[in-house]
Amino acid sequence: MVTLSYLKKYFQGKKVFVTGHTGFKGSWMIQILNQVGAELKGYSLAPEHHYDLYYQIDGNSLCKSIIHDIRDSEKLQDEILNFEPDFIFHLAAQPIVLEGYKNPLYTFEVNTQGTANILNALRYYSKKCVVICITTDKVYENNDENTLFSEHHKLGGYDPYSASKAAAEIIISSYRNSFFNTIDYQIHQKSIASVRAGNVIGGGDYAPNRIIPDIVKSIQFDNPIILRNPHAIRPWQHVIEPLSAYLYLATKMVDEPMNFNSAYNIGPNESDVLTVEELTQIAIQTVGKGNVQVESNQKKLHEAATLMLNIAKIKQEIGWEPIYNSKIAIEKTINWYFDERSAAIKCIELINEYFQNQTKITKEE
Ligand SMILES: NC(=O)c1ccc[n+]([C@@H]2O[C@H](COP(=O)([O-])OP(=O)(O)OC[C@H]3O[C@@H](n4cnc5c(N)ncnc54)[C@H](O)[C@@H]3O)[C@@H](O)[C@H]2O)c1
Repeated sequence: MVTLSYLKKYFQGKKVFVTGHTGFKGSWMIQILNQVGAELKGYSLAPEHHYDLYYQIDGNSLCKSIIHDIRDSEKLQDEILNFEPDFIFHLAAQPIVLEGYKNPLYTFEVNTQGTANILNALRYYSKKCVVICITTDKVYENNDENTLFSEHHKLGGYDPYSASKAAAEIIISSYRNSFFNTIDYQIHQKSIASVRAGNVIGGGDYAPNRIIPDIVKSIQFDNPIILRNPHAIRPWQHVIEPLSAYLYLATKMVDEPMNFNSAYNIGPNESDVLTVEELTQIAIQTVGKGNVQVESNQKKLHEAATLMLNIAKIKQEIGWEPIYNSKIAIEKTINWYFDERSAAIKCIELINEYFQNQTKITKEE
């Protein structure tokens, strides 16, 4: 398993460019990268709320922060070229399904043009660079047939968010084929992967219309927890899990840049998926209070009923696998919100614990 001392060998003193560093996953990412001694530059919009995790952890003290729109290709290119990164992790996106229904054009622009802008900037960058583009488990054509999606399954996307990320996958593949082809690696020296992670949970997510922030807010204010799709099945994971996979994959790409430049699913083990209602019940048990109400509004926007990922490829090719099962991930997440210590202390504690944990925790334990 990947440890902090292992990651230090690859990241200490290295320049890492992180887009979306002010967001939920980005804020965790810069804390891990800071722990392993990387020099960080972030590129994102400003956090939306004064209580966002980025402010709670004093993100500006961990990285050089550029607050700017990813759709501005010139500015983005300048920032990348001036920094001369060894690694790029591209997380910036409009990441919410319901927001995609409200603002489809914005969603398509940020998620597709933003990805193309990153990759295009690299055409003018002569140094070696490992690039990980974060898409999502929602990139597959999902007909609710209980498919266990592998990387070879057809891309699709019913709603604008999913479609924009599937489009981002095609853009990544096109840039890799056209400009950063493995055959020409010695000339361009770019190794580019895309990662399709499942539903991520963890402390410090305050995004609207996401299940964990909704549950926490409802319990804190003694309101019923309103569930839109109680029977929807999702591959839930603690936020540190996919981040450890991104980092581990990046180290493998340093060692073998021509072997791991492809797409990878990242998620919990197949036996470890839960419905929204099951997740909510575990959260309620963890806090010791809360009650559920199912949304009665019949005019629901379409969201897939089941979403399950096959993670055999990342397990077999690089040897990464999840440590926490869904129940543990939910407990660690919920406890984070109800623990009154500072966010930075709680995050660092969980990061240390995760990376020190060499024993796989199984559901049976
Ligand atoms: N959270 C999840 O469950 C989940 C699951 C699968 C994939 N993802 C993907 O992971 C990534 C991070 O998600 P998150 O949950 O941290 O989201 P988030 O909303 O917390 O963070 C999004 C980040 O993107 C930045 N951003 C948004 N629009 C931008 C723009 N126009 N220009 C520059 N920056 C912009 C924001 O400033 C922020 O830093 C996204 O690509 C998302 O699609 C998230």
